[in-house]
Amino acid sequence: MIFPHSLARPMSLHGRDVVSIRDLSREEIAGLLDSAKRMIPVAEGRRASPLLAGKIVAMAFVEPSTRTRLSFESAVQRLGGSCLTIADAGATSLRKGESLYDTIRMLSSYADAIVLRHPNEGAARLAARASDRPVINAGDGAGQHPTQTLLDLMTIRERFGTLAGLKVVLLGDLKYGRTVHSLAYALAEFGSEITLSSPESLRLPEEHRDDLRRQGAKVHDEPNLERAIRDADVLYVTRIQKERFPDESEYREVAGTYRVDARVLKEAKPQLIVMHPLPRVGEIAAEVDATPHAAYFRQAFLAVPVRMALLSAILDRSGRRP
Ligand code: NCD
Repeated sequence: MIFPHSLARPMSLHGRDVVSIRDLSREEIAGLLDSAKRMIPVAEGRRASPLLAGKIVAMAFVEPSTRTRLSFESAVQRLGGSCLTIADAGATSLRKGESLYDTIRMLSSYADAIVLRHPNEGAARLAARASDRPVINAGDGAGQHPTQTLLDLMTIRERFGTLAGLKVVLLGDLKYGRTVHSLAYALAEFGSEITLSSPESLRLPEEHRDDLRRQGAKVHDEPNLERAIRDADVLYVTRIQKERFPDESEYREVAGTYRVDARVLKEAKPQLIVMHPLPRVGEIAAEVDATPHAAYFRQAFLAVPVRMALLSAILDRSGRRP
């Protein structure tokens, strides 16, 4: 069975940190996606739910964000909770040289959970050690982005009903893109076939390839986009992570080397969906938006029910251990 554990009652992950997608088992991921599905009417504002009433969630965003922070905030507020938000680290004592450890330690005495985005890989792990409240990683440098993966999986599952046996192309910056680092692992766990398509200098790093091999994943490289998508079900496009390049000239060499447009998609299967964690900065032409392939705005919406499901599982009042 693909999604083995369809829970009747909401999933409990009481008090747990989610730093990497590996912190969640397959059963837990499946349970979260099931409860996220039930939360869709709440995320749309059509039904009320007080699951987080009286809870405070801190949003510590030390790196730019639009969707991740606002969908977390929407999730908390739709469920009756409230947020303490750092949206601009320049306005906090981090600017005065306060350590991340101290900032998080203090925040954990003001809030019931902390959502952290930070430019350094490993920052969320450190924060989880500093905090006695659960920490959720909303992106740590080129490391991990586990909650993005949950909503990516939900988008695929909503369209195809399964992940097993699907052919998924990961396109773009596979070196620095944290979304694909988390997603590749999860796709392999659920039995998707993965095609890696990137400029040579942005190939998926060896450590991730080793993980995929250990998982027994079906993975291959196909740098040519037209060939890569020929019989694909999902095309997952990413932005080149300009801000992570140590040298701007290296960025200029690869900038603009791939673009998904109507011409490219002519060769695709009719059911192919195009996904992107967003923001896009030219990798997907606007003309794709009007085609049935475009799934990225639905994907952005599903961030809200997925983050509702995760927060309510972590802040679950029952005290039940998972
Ligand atoms: C991604 C990120 O921050 O890693 N954005 C997001 O969370 N939706 C992708 C990106 O910035 O390119």
